[in-house]
Amino acid sequence: MLRAFSFERCELFANIERFSIRCFNQPSHKVEGLSLDTYQKQDSPWYLSGKKDKHTAASSSPPDISPTTDLIIISISHTSPHHHLHTLKMPKASPSPSPPQPLPKTHLKNPLTTLFLITVLCSTFYTLSSYRSTITPPPKPKPKPKPKPTTKTHFNSPNPITNFTSLTHQTTPPPPIFKTHHKNHTFNPLQQYPPKKFQSCPSNFTHYCPCQDPLRERFFKITKMLHRERHCPTGESEILRCLVPVPLGYKKPFVWPKSRSEAWFSNVPFKVLTESKKQQNWVRLVGDRLVFPGGGTSFQKGVKGYVDVLKKMVPLESGVIRTVVDTGCGVASFGDALMDYNIITMSIAPRDIHEAQVQFALERGLPAMLGVLGTYRLPYPSRSFDMAHCSRCLVPWTQYDGLYLMEIDRILRPGGYWVLSGPPINWRNKYTASDGTTIDPKKELTRLEDLARRLCWRKLKGKGPIAVWQKPNNHIECNKRNSKFHKFCDKNDDPDDGWYKTMDACITRLPQVDHMQDVSGGVLENWPKRLNTVPPRIGLIPGLTSQDFVDDNLMWRKRVSTYAGVLKSLSSGGYRNVMDMNAGLGGFAASLSKYPVWVMNVVPHDAEYNTLGVIYERGLIGTYMNWCEPFSTYPRSYDLIHADNVFSMYMNKCDIVDIFIEMYRIIRPKGTIIIADHVDIIVKIKSHTDQMSWHARLLDTEAGPFGPRKLLFLDI
Ligand SMILES: C[S@@+](CC[C@H](N)C(=O)[O-])C[C@H]1O[C@@H](n2cnc3c(N)ncnc32)[C@H](O)[C@@H]1O
Repeated sequence: MLRAFSFERCELFANIERFSIRCFNQPSHKVEGLSLDTYQKQDSPWYLSGKKDKHTAASSSPPDISPTTDLIIISISHTSPHHHLHTLKMPKASPSPSPPQPLPKTHLKNPLTTLFLITVLCSTFYTLSSYRSTITPPPKPKPKPKPKPTTKTHFNSPNPITNFTSLTHQTTPPPPIFKTHHKNHTFNPLQQYPPKKFQSCPSNFTHYCPCQDPLRERFFKITKMLHRERHCPTGESEILRCLVPVPLGYKKPFVWPKSRSEAWFSNVPFKVLTESKKQQNWVRLVGDRLVFPGGGTSFQKGVKGYVDVLKKMVPLESGVIRTVVDTGCGVASFGDALMDYNIITMSIAPRDIHEAQVQFALERGLPAMLGVLGTYRLPYPSRSFDMAHCSRCLVPWTQYDGLYLMEIDRILRPGGYWVLSGPPINWRNKYTASDGTTIDPKKELTRLEDLARRLCWRKLKGKGPIAVWQKPNNHIECNKRNSKFHKFCDKNDDPDDGWYKTMDACITRLPQVDHMQDVSGGVLENWPKRLNTVPPRIGLIPGLTSQDFVDDNLMWRKRVSTYAGVLKSLSSGGYRNVMDMNAGLGGFAASLSKYPVWVMNVVPHDAEYNTLGVIYERGLIGTYMNWCEPFSTYPRSYDLIHADNVFSMYMNKCDIVDIFIEMYRIIRPKGTIIIADHVDIIVKIKSHTDQMSWHARLLDTEAGPFGPRKLLFLDI
């Protein structure tokens, strides 16, 4: 079936069964000839969607082609496999002096004639535009970006959808010549040749998460929550190249710790949770503020009382537990409460009906990111967390042969705790899990106990609403038992692979030990000693030694004290959410630990050394990432972004303009970006930072004016 119609700045997604159209502006006219079943305005763009059915195929209406708007021709292939998108997009239709006349009605009454006419029309357009059209490839779980020449700009993108940011083609200015001084100074070597600026995205992109786009997810199966996984735009036709605008009335978030309990409604203007979770006290709207009273589905009377019960079962106060993952975090009130115990929680939840939950968490200054127990492993290495928590997160734990609990087992460190409250614990009625399955709590509990035994976990004593299991310190005992009952993963499986790696229902092997009392992978110090003690994993990374760790730590202490001299409000709460885009051994975050900040330590999935496990062993948190793709977060998540050697690493992997656009999306207004890189790289990227209108300051590093590494401080 072929179909043509037009809209201004619209984007189409289609598979064999359905189509959806997202428009940046409200579509100004009716869609003729398409059978629509939804027409809704969501939190960001306008959406239209419909079924490809007989009525659509043999519509009696003409295709709506307007000369004044962009023309999109859609081809939905009957033979395409499920989920494959076939989109043909054309630049603006050639101007025509008069509006196109609808085809005579008599012709249209015959479906076959209509089909023939549309086919001819589309073929003509296709032929005419073949040299300029782009065919959107099916979204791939792990796109391998082709190296692009870094000099390339997108300013003359042929795509009408993305081209609304289009600017006149730039002439390359002469390379900047600059000197650095020991003192900070304003750096603008290109002042004479001001580059053209990027345009702002339309206002309905204010809360846009490119890889968690509700429109795109409709084309992925709901089985194993695949639709809630990351699905990032790929290719020239999908990637938006404009700057996400701030919401109307945006104000600087409250300074920590006030932000724990209050946020400006204008910054995250979403009411659903204030109404739907009113009884559970997640969040309330009081005047122009969102107030977080510390409630939750499992702790309606307050999370503090809930944690008081929990601390009778697990050693929250001893420093043994430092890193926690809260799956299905809501607005992260559990993670917030654990901060009182010097525990840092990675709060994760998908972008789902719990409108903007993770955005609320970040606005409160709490560590959080979008994430789901679905199809892929969580983006963390094995043995990362001292505790995992689920309070009524409704994950179907025993489904798919225990897949999800096996994933929790993978990321729990030996001796770590799994805490579950809500169904099936102390539950009588049947309930619906997040994947839609109806669960009988009694049967589920039996299956859960059985699964925990298969994982060799031990259930801790305790009655009441919370159940706790503990992972063994090693697998010696487990290995002795029936190997069919305990299905271990393949010996070649990399337990630390957590980047678009499909989950398998198998038990992740622990490093071997000789004695029952040994802890697999080595004993960790309690927090805070853990932060600066050589992590046992250092010895497992070929090419890294304990001395490297010590030297790296010292180096970062010096560097951060230089940074602190520039970031004047660091100690007074001017920055709260910090991201290190290429965290190495976590030295930057460790040196910041005396300030009122938390750091998301990002380790590129293909970094030379996989150091994320080391970072977790220090009692810090982070994630794997590919900076050729957008991060799993909302716009305006971070106050400070540190990009150490990021651009030298990505120069030949993808277009660095996309990285800048992503940094712009996730940095908060009035935030700061620190770029540390080789002087040659800094020269290359300077024109891009100018396009963002960022105020730049160039500094020498501790190596002085002759050191090749330079620092670029960008004030947003
Ligand atoms: C009823 S709420 C509970 C929120 C919070 N834990 C509390 O007690 O207030 C369920 C939470 O689980 C999340 N969730 C549902 N399915 C999930 C999955 N498969 N993986 C991760 N989170 C999930 C939802 O997005 C939501 O945050």
